[in-house]
Amino acid sequence: MTTSAQRDGFTSTLGVLAATLGSAVGLGNIWKFPALTGANGGAGFLLVYLFATLLVGLPVMIAEITLGRRARANPIAALKGMAPGRPWWLVGVSGMVAAFMIMAFYSEVVAWVFAYVWKSLEGSALSSDAAVTEGAFAALVASPWQSLIWQWVVLLLIGGILLRGVARGIEAVTKRLMPLLFLLLAALCVFSLTLDGAREGLAFLFSPDFSRVNAGVVLTAVGLAFFKMSIGMGTMMTYGSYFRADQNIPQTAARVMCADLAVSLLAGIAIFPAVFTFGFEPTAGPSLVFITLPAVFAQLPFGQGLMFVFFVLTSIAAIGAMLSLLEVPVLVLHERLGMKRSNAIAVCVLIVGVLGAGCALSMNLLADWRVQGRNLFDLMDFLSSNVLLPLGGILIALFTGWVWGRDAFSRAVSNEGSLDNRRLAGGLVLILRYVSPLLIFIVMLNGLGFI
Ligand code: TRP
Repeated sequence: MTTSAQRDGFTSTLGVLAATLGSAVGLGNIWKFPALTGANGGAGFLLVYLFATLLVGLPVMIAEITLGRRARANPIAALKGMAPGRPWWLVGVSGMVAAFMIMAFYSEVVAWVFAYVWKSLEGSALSSDAAVTEGAFAALVASPWQSLIWQWVVLLLIGGILLRGVARGIEAVTKRLMPLLFLLLAALCVFSLTLDGAREGLAFLFSPDFSRVNAGVVLTAVGLAFFKMSIGMGTMMTYGSYFRADQNIPQTAARVMCADLAVSLLAGIAIFPAVFTFGFEPTAGPSLVFITLPAVFAQLPFGQGLMFVFFVLTSIAAIGAMLSLLEVPVLVLHERLGMKRSNAIAVCVLIVGVLGAGCALSMNLLADWRVQGRNLFDLMDFLSSNVLLPLGGILIALFTGWVWGRDAFSRAVSNEGSLDNRRLAGGLVLILRYVSPLLIFIVMLNGLGFI
């Protein structure tokens, strides 16, 4: 095992922010958040989402980061060390399984995004006729080779960045890419707001319709808060183990939460005015990004350039999220099995490659292979998002609140007394003991179809 003296880690406050924000910001911001906000009542949903983030997302994120920093180890070793002889370390194992499952389908969507960066350079897939853009996307998904090749481009890039380590890889790359992401997004927003549909697009996103806020909407908001903040599977624990000792964790987590929210809102402001200007329907999921938007771009001045900018910024968002996902099993193999970091990366990339190929091919060659009506892609998404992540979140909240306990947590969050975070920690422990686990439990029952 590596000792803490040689352990790689983030070197600056800015680097910590960039890497952690890089994990939170991802495909979830670009298509999930805007579309879900629009479909569930605009500002009403936004308010519920804020509550969900404050009551579930932020506390669990702070708990995970603090656990990781206290242990300075991978999630399995961390939980083993903090509760010796008890089975809490299984939460770390389940997190590792969840990481592979998420990466299996996530990497395929990132592969489509990369393919579209290329397509926007070529100028293909750009047509004002949505039937044509739909055909272009369908052709990409239906081609086993194209899917697999782009997925391997993604995996080799992410593996290559991780090869450089935490400070010189993850931190250095996200520190450069995150500001670029904000810049590109701001530019798209300014452009989008000059369009005829700007007023309608903003109204769709922000006009409060509280009559639409029901139990289902609340559940959707909690689930989204969970996925957005990368919690429930040890990602934040892993990154926490790289945090500096003098980092103010609650403050950092709150900043990440706000910046992540800003990216989501800006994405909505960039997308919806353009969509409404040309009379399209605001849909969620792949069809918005890969079918509707190219048709919108085709009708705008500099459409090809705008499409390029959009897919580059979506790639940037996805890269930071993928880095944080792959780092979880890499660190486990490196620290627990004593593998060299480079070998650990190679093994993990191979595993994701195999699982991911299954997901990519489940759209074409293996389309008939289904479990309860779900192909492999949907199955991975369902099992990770609806089972493993919420389960991990509940257990991490309970572990921090009840097992680790108020005093130890409070000392760790206050940097051993050098920060005045004690009252805050007391409040957090109450939320972690009762509120977050209960809320997540209800969401999980709903996701599994029990309510
Ligand atoms: N937060 C990322 C997004 O919004 C996805 C993500 C990265 C994630 N790491 C995670 C989700 C860990 C759950 C768990 O797209």
